[in-house]
Parts: sequence; C-alpha cells; structure tokens
Amino acid sequence: MRDKINKTIHFAKETFKEDSSGHDWWHTHRVSKLAKQIAVKEKADLFIVEMAALLHDISDFKFNSNIEVGKNKVISHLKSLGIEGELIDKIWSAVETVSFRGANVLNKPTTLEGMVVQDADRLDALGAIGIARTFAYGAHKGRAIYDPEIKPTLHKTADEYLQRDSSSINHFYEKLFLLKEMVNTETAKKIAKKRHDFLKIYLKEFLTEWNGEDIK
Ligand code: NI
Repeated sequence: MRDKINKTIHFAKETFKEDSSGHDWWHTHRVSKLAKQIAVKEKADLFIVEMAALLHDISDFKFNSNIEVGKNKVISHLKSLGIEGELIDKIWSAVETVSFRGANVLNKPTTLEGMVVQDADRLDALGAIGIARTFAYGAHKGRAIYDPEIKPTLHKTADEYLQRDSSSINHFYEKLFLLKEMVNTETAKKIAKKRHDFLKIYLKEFLTEWNGEDIK
C-alpha cells in the first residue's frame, strides 16, 4: 500500500511541478494531509482517501479538455499500480466529485471517502491559504484583483463558472463564502467556520482600504 501511495505522490508532483494557478503540488499535499486527518475522525477508509486526495486535481475539469481525458489519466495510473476492479471504482468515485463547478451546480459525493476528500479540498480554498490561492488563480486567468463595476454572479453551469470574466474579490462571493454550507462532515464544518470567519475579516479590511475609509 505504501509503495502505491509513494508512486502516486511522485505522479502528482511531476504533474503539478510547473503550476502557478494555486493548484501546485503543495495544494495536493495539503489536501491529502488534511483529508487523512478528517478520515481518521470520520472513520473513512484511509487508503482510498489518500489515493483520491493525491489524484483529485489530475482529472479536474479546469485542466483537461473534457472529463474523459482526466478520467483516463487517473484510471491508467491506478492500473499501472496493479489496482483493479471495485477498488478503482471506489477511488475514482471519490476523485470525480471533488471539484467545485459553480454556486448552483450540484456535485455531491456518494461515499464517505468522497465527502472527506471534497471537504479537504474545500477547506484549502478557505482561510489565509485560500486567499493566497484566490489571487494566484485570478492572475492565472488574467483577472483583476478587484473591479467594483463587475458584480458577482452565482453560476448555474460549470462552463459559465469557468468562462465568465470576474475579479478575484468576486470569487469570494461566487465560491469561497458558499463553501462553509457545502462541506459534508462534522469535522470539516468546524474548521470551515474558523476559516470562513477569517475570510470575512480580510474582505472587510480590503474594502475599507479600497474605499479610503482608514484615512483619519
Ligand atoms: Ni484541488
């Protein structure tokens, strides 16, 4: 089992070594560490959780031309490790449902392991690290830090969510502030609340400075 995990760590490191969109190897590393901690508390299968966490962004819809291309990358990696049958299905099922695809796009995991990995990924989008990743992702997409003339939108489809011009500050409203209500496990809910509160403090200070209200 350890050998399969080490090979998957290597695979993820290689895939994400050039990334500057907030989805670099260290994102995957944090998600897998947090997912394992949640898995222990929630009594989920540790091997499935760790494998799915390590693979969760390999197949992400944001980085592949379509879901089949991403799925093939994950499945062929698992087969190359000698993982077969039901175990492949369980890992893939947990990987498949991780991604946030827009405020009104439902993507609910069907297994406890899927819930745990989705929660860990969402928690990494919150708090101080979530803020850093938001601006990195915005720059990657050529977005402004903030543009008061563009109003936030709650997207109904994944395409709309990806395509629409927005700003990094709008991303707080379009995704980050919604995540607290979207995590699955009790363990993650507690962490989400703390990280959510920090986002609000940060945004308040950002807008205070933007509006020059801190000049006395
Ligand atoms: Ni991710």
